[in-house]
Amino acid sequence: MAEVRFDDRVAVVTGAGGGLGREYALLLAARGAKVVVNDLGGAFDGTGSGHTAAEQVCQEIKDAGGEAVPNFDSVADWEGASSIIKTAIDAYGKVDILVNNAGILRDKSFLKMEMEDYEKVMAVHLNGTFFCSKAAFPHMRENAYGRIISASSAAGVYGNFGQANYGAAKMGIVGLMHVLKQEGAKYNIMANVIVPVAGTRMTATVLPPNLLELLKPEFVAPLVVWACSEGCAFSGYTFVAGGGYFSRTAFMEGPGVFFDVSQSITLEMIDENIDKITSLDGAVPYGSATEQTGSILGKMNIS
Ligand code: NAI
Repeated sequence: MAEVRFDDRVAVVTGAGGGLGREYALLLAARGAKVVVNDLGGAFDGTGSGHTAAEQVCQEIKDAGGEAVPNFDSVADWEGASSIIKTAIDAYGKVDILVNNAGILRDKSFLKMEMEDYEKVMAVHLNGTFFCSKAAFPHMRENAYGRIISASSAAGVYGNFGQANYGAAKMGIVGLMHVLKQEGAKYNIMANVIVPVAGTRMTATVLPPNLLELLKPEFVAPLVVWACSEGCAFSGYTFVAGGGYFSRTAFMEGPGVFFDVSQSITLEMIDENIDKITSLDGAVPYGSATEQTGSILGKMNIS
């Protein structure tokens, strides 16, 4: 089996000063990538900032014989995101790989959530992923090469109490990646999503210590870094990884029912057929909105 390498590749990992991002940066560098280690260096709720986190990870990479430069900007504004990508261009002349990983938490039940908690979480997760991807995209197009992988969460994909802001942002990221998949295809830009489970400072308050130990970030990194490799021909995929488990999740659409549209469709017809309408037996994941709509039109009885 050929070794997966990143020689001559330039990677940007956001929020790489700790937790999962640090692990992605270390593994990319160990396999030959030049890495921009971005981290704002604040607390898990997005307050504060500092240079130590990103600098330390750069030092770790250099001590192991790799190449890295730090960046301390915030992903949450366009100027910061542009500057993160510019750091890669200035230091290494290009950007091949972007891991949108930076994140914060502001958990509260929906009734108690302040607008600021919503705005901050949307800004870092959804805007941050949008801005960094937008800043990197033209460079990737120019080189006809790009790998973008962005962090979503089971809290978005499946829902989690107290995370209305975070869940909304994390599913927004999935929607964004589905579009980047379409728009990046002709430039060899692959856009995917990771739903990780790992013991980090973000989960330290909710997971017991024995579980944290079992869910090391290093058990997530191999799939994320593989998705950054030349061999990854998948795009628009939502991968799941944690504790040695690797999988894929997807939106699936059931076969549903078709009613004759030459007659009126009544509430009672919906009522009578609701089991069939909601059944996922034989469900498929569509590759695009066009494919999905085309499938519906194809099955309609159009004379
Ligand atoms: P973490 O808190 O250890 O790492 C997040 C990093 O992002 C921190 O180093 C932080 O300083 C940095 N950061 C925060 N705001 C930033 C900004 N505006 N600009 C640049 N950097 C910023 O958390 P963890 O667990 O490593 O999370 C990484 C990603 O994975 C996040 O997007 C998180 O939402 C996601 N995730 C993590 C899960 C887990 O089980 N740990 C589960 C699901 C998703």
